[in-house]
Amino acid sequence: MTIDIRPIVDAEFPAWSDAVAVGFHHAETRDGGVFRRPVWEAEIGRGRVLGGIDGGRVAGTLGAFHTELTVPGGGLGAGAITSVTVQATHRRRGILRSMMAQALRQAADLGEAVAVLIPSEWPIYGRYGFGPATEEVMWRIDAAAAGLLEPLPGTIELVGVEEWRREMPEVYARLRSAMPGAISRDGWWWDRAAGLVRPAGQPDDKSKLFAVHRDDAGTVQGYAKYTVEERDRVGLAPNSKLKADVFAATPAVQARLMQFLWEQDWVVEVEVIAQPTDDIWRLFLHNPRAVWQADRYDTLWVRILDVPSALSARTYAGEGRLVLAVQDKDGYAEGTFAVEGGPGGATCVPVTESPDLTLPVQTLGSLYLGGPAASSLARAGLVVEERPGALALADAMFRTAVAPFAPTWF
Ligand SMILES: CC(C)(COP(=O)(O)OP(=O)(O)OC[C@H]1O[C@@H](n2cnc3c(N)ncnc32)[C@H](O)[C@@H]1OP(=O)(O)O)[C@@H](O)C(=O)NCCC(=O)NCCS
Repeated sequence: MTIDIRPIVDAEFPAWSDAVAVGFHHAETRDGGVFRRPVWEAEIGRGRVLGGIDGGRVAGTLGAFHTELTVPGGGLGAGAITSVTVQATHRRRGILRSMMAQALRQAADLGEAVAVLIPSEWPIYGRYGFGPATEEVMWRIDAAAAGLLEPLPGTIELVGVEEWRREMPEVYARLRSAMPGAISRDGWWWDRAAGLVRPAGQPDDKSKLFAVHRDDAGTVQGYAKYTVEERDRVGLAPNSKLKADVFAATPAVQARLMQFLWEQDWVVEVEVIAQPTDDIWRLFLHNPRAVWQADRYDTLWVRILDVPSALSARTYAGEGRLVLAVQDKDGYAEGTFAVEGGPGGATCVPVTESPDLTLPVQTLGSLYLGGPAASSLARAGLVVEERPGALALADAMFRTAVAPFAPTWF
């Protein structure tokens, strides 16, 4: 029987949601679609919730939504792809390939110059033109060894869940506009992060604690969301582990929030997930080795669909003009383009000149947010320098002082 790859209709949503739950091995979210419905309701109407339907059963799922992506010096509308699953009974028959082809076509038709996703596994999405564009780290802190060199400004305030839910969307929207790699967050994202929505039948999550950082003018510049796990005592001493998610405007705010966490009584170890790779905040400590990187991994992958729109939506650290020959077997980004600009803005147009650099669309996705240097990717064979000096110019133009970071999982 052939598998029908198409947008689902509303009545199919419970089965679609159930297939997502099974595909991700999240049996606790098999609740007839109640938990996921707020996210996808509008997108079903827009035809962006795709299914691989096999004789009435949902064998594959993929959902896409429109988001705002911050890029160096600006932002643009992007297609965010998520909830990608194929049932274990139907894998490796091309269902993902067909769903992705449809999703990318829809994104391009809607005028989204890039598509983004966060892969579960590295080898899946390069074949569709995505390249890894951001990384994040997990920090582990030895609470007894950590301490600040000097007191940092700002105050920390404990807030309740309702206050955190009410005030943080504005804080995030303000701060993310200066964070290449950040996407906008909708109300459901915040409800879920606050623990206000959860799969039916799941116990209320009352373990979350919230703290915010205010600068001397009283403006919130970051927050920490954390839980504390009381582990077996060591002798008579408490031995708690604190796990946190920290979001901060600057390294100084980050360090101040971290201090608040490691100074808590009973806490011997702090683990902070989803942090930028930029580790300048550790330099506010008298012993930066009290903190170490427990994990590091790629997060946001970028697929350029419209090269002129994407490359003219960002600014460039150094002034210059580069001619790029982009290879894309699916056609969207294929061609030769001149990007010309600097810190004030840029233009990008198709040209017929011979290129300065030749690169596959995946590499352009990796370069787009300012992450790796073109010269480093060239050493891995991922960019070819056609004119001497072009790689150095690409480094000077594309790179950003601070590595891009995707603070929002989706
Ligand atoms: C990943 C997943 C969606 C793939 O679906 P699928 O329908 O089996 O994929 P397809 O048959 O369309 O495969 C397309 C290509 O991707 C490759 N591929 C698919 N999944 C892969 C994986 N996990 N690792 C490496 N290659 C993979 C296939 O080999 C095939 O390669 P080809 O084009 O060279 O022939 C499915 O395995 C799945 O649901 N996994 C668990 C949930 C998950 O990880 N989802 C992704 C969330 S980001």
